[in-house]
Amino acid sequence: METFVFHNPTRLIFGRGQLAQLRSELAPYGKRLLLVYGGGSIKRTGLYDAVMAILREVGAEVSELPGVEPNPRLTTVHRGVAICRREQVDFILAVGGGSVIDCAKAVAVGALYEGDVWEVITGKGRATGALPFGTVLTLAATGSEMNSGSVITNWETREKLGWDAAPHTYPRFSILDPVYTFTVPRDHTVYGIVDMMSHALEQYFHTAANTPLVDRWIEDLLRTVIEAGPRAVADPEDYAARETLLFCGTMALNDLLAMGTDGGDWATHAIEHAVSAVYDIPHGGGLAIIQPNWMRYCLDVNPARFARLAVRVFDVNPAGRSDREVGLEGIERLRQFWTSIGAPSRLADYGIGDDQIERMAKLATGRRGTAGQFRKLTEEDVAAILRMSL
Ligand code: NZQ
Ligand code: ZN
Repeated sequence: METFVFHNPTRLIFGRGQLAQLRSELAPYGKRLLLVYGGGSIKRTGLYDAVMAILREVGAEVSELPGVEPNPRLTTVHRGVAICRREQVDFILAVGGGSVIDCAKAVAVGALYEGDVWEVITGKGRATGALPFGTVLTLAATGSEMNSGSVITNWETREKLGWDAAPHTYPRFSILDPVYTFTVPRDHTVYGIVDMMSHALEQYFHTAANTPLVDRWIEDLLRTVIEAGPRAVADPEDYAARETLLFCGTMALNDLLAMGTDGGDWATHAIEHAVSAVYDIPHGGGLAIIQPNWMRYCLDVNPARFARLAVRVFDVNPAGRSDREVGLEGIERLRQFWTSIGAPSRLADYGIGDDQIERMAKLATGRRGTAGQFRKLTEEDVAAILRMSL
């Protein structure tokens, strides 16, 4: 194992009826609150009214930042920062999916940063702190509710960048009631399943030795999602399935699965971010297309690792076959599973052709010039994976 420090300060409040905890969770903070939410789903589901009732009860003075886009944009972050400064906001409450939470993180940092928060996101500046913020999650996918990462898109420069300003960007608390995920549409339920599985896979392909516990946690998380996912897709109000997915989504990316490793590969995410920076496609849809092709491309780095995944997660029978053959069958099973729940498998499913491949390869490798750690991919490698994905 590699040396590590584990400290996740987010208080996770999980289960039916737990929105009621919002009252006491807000008690330590000042009264001026910014409510951040998306394109209106929380109004349709009644969650907005339920949250507002509690905010009125505790005497909060509420400003609002509505309309956070899926793949949240820097312009929206700027609007939020301006409100925080003008209204002297004490606390930010994000109610929604990963996009809403990621936007709230950038607003929280931007409100206390002297320059433009884009400097922090691009690594040119360092966060000087953040307004305290909490979340009420409505979609099982990103893990943003219990991690310090955020992904913001600058649509002018077509950059979609992941950034992290730990410890400032961990939510103070996150409230997760599976009932509020019943209304997630079928496609976003599928994207969420793919996203949490992809987070587990990114972390599975690490380079550390002797990590038996974390490896098994990842394998069991994947098996659990494969079991619960189709039930949530078939019956959106299956409480047990939604509950399991919500828990898996958080555990898949809250520092737990990276203990003692190098953190994992993350090239698939870098490539997906480049695709959605150019084409604005849903994150989970892009991952479903890229991940199996990344796996095929990198199989020969460590065929035994892929074979282990195939056997332990997809029940592939290894008898009499090479690691490479077994690994390939595992990759095929992963693709079949995602297809079976309705995920896309080719860039063509989003009408994407080969005309922007070089540009996306450049974006994916970024300033470092490479993507990933399990295998350090050059621009040419990324372009090859994108071509396999057409
Ligand atoms: O905007 P509203 O109206 O709320 O609708 C949303 C949105 O259209 C809808 N939705 C959410 N909860 C709902 C619901 N509709 C009905 N009922 C509900 N309960 O779902 C749509 C997608 O929401 P979004 O927040 O964009 O999805 P997700 O949670 O998958 O977040 C995706 C973003 O997170 C980033 C992605 O790149 C993408 O920008 N990521 C963030 C990470 C992190 N912070 O750790 C890691 C991830 O790898 C990922 O990159
Ligand atoms: Zn993701």
